[in-house]
Amino acid sequence: MILFKRISDLQTHLQKLRQENKTIGFAPTMGALHEGHLSLIKASQEEVDITICSIFVNPTQFNDSKDFEKYPITIDNDIYLLEKQRCDILFLPSVNEIYPNGKELKQLYDLGFIESILEGAFRPGHFQGVCQVVDRLLEIVQPDLLFMGQKDYQQIMVVKKMIELKNHKAKVIVVPIFREPSGLASSSRNMRLTNDEKEKATAIYQSLIFIKENISRLFFVEIKQQVAEMLMNSEFQKIDYIEICNAETLEPLEKYDKTIKLVALIAAFIGEVRLIDNMIL
Ligand code: PAJ
Repeated sequence: MILFKRISDLQTHLQKLRQENKTIGFAPTMGALHEGHLSLIKASQEEVDITICSIFVNPTQFNDSKDFEKYPITIDNDIYLLEKQRCDILFLPSVNEIYPNGKELKQLYDLGFIESILEGAFRPGHFQGVCQVVDRLLEIVQPDLLFMGQKDYQQIMVVKKMIELKNHKAKVIVVPIFREPSGLASSSRNMRLTNDEKEKATAIYQSLIFIKENISRLFFVEIKQQVAEMLMNSEFQKIDYIEICNAETLEPLEKYDKTIKLVALIAAFIGEVRLIDNMIL
């Protein structure tokens, strides 16, 4: 694996690869890599000639400064995992390299409705920061395919919208959620959980299964009430949302309609750690 810290070096290298007609796949991450991230790398390796992973803890997408300060950094292990997975290139830029003219948002991305709900409502500014960094990374890397995880369901919709707004050539490939044997979705934030909390955190997955099994049987209000109880009984102290939405538009729904593809999404806190998960129903 080749590690690049500077954009100019990376771009010189990529230019050569493009002249050789190599296809390029890109998986942007914030590091603290786990099997979920590696599944993006594997998916890319199946589709393209050259796979690039970036690690950049983007300061502009953290609406909570404590979350940013406590974001796990495990760069040596990340490099080890990427080497083991035979990733071709790691791009590891500094904040100055990504934001040479300052971190302030220079443009507002017109994301519309999608930014007003769920993560958008509970993490104001978060998706503008995500768009800012992914826009910049796509400008630098110019991949053919962009690999993103279904784990961040709304983020995929936001990034697709940004790609459309900015006319990037990259096509988004959605990779299924990687789960631990317990059902807990792999996440960098899981590193902040104790073993006991990790066990209790599986209640999110169990809740999603419960929703899936009862979606056509119970009223959505009833489902949500029961799920809230399940989560509270597993020591989730705060629930941001339990929603059942149209999977294409993310519009929240109140009753079952078998003609609409649905997705259930949950965000909740266990201790100080905020976890998100979702399931197509
Ligand atoms: P991060 O949370 O590091 O996630 C990087 C990518 O890995 C995202 O596309 C995410 O959806 C995917 N991912 C995380 N956990 C996963 C799992 N259990 N299964 C499958 N895929 C998973 O998402 C971000 O970083 C940032 O917002 C970023 C897009 C890099 C912009 O800063």
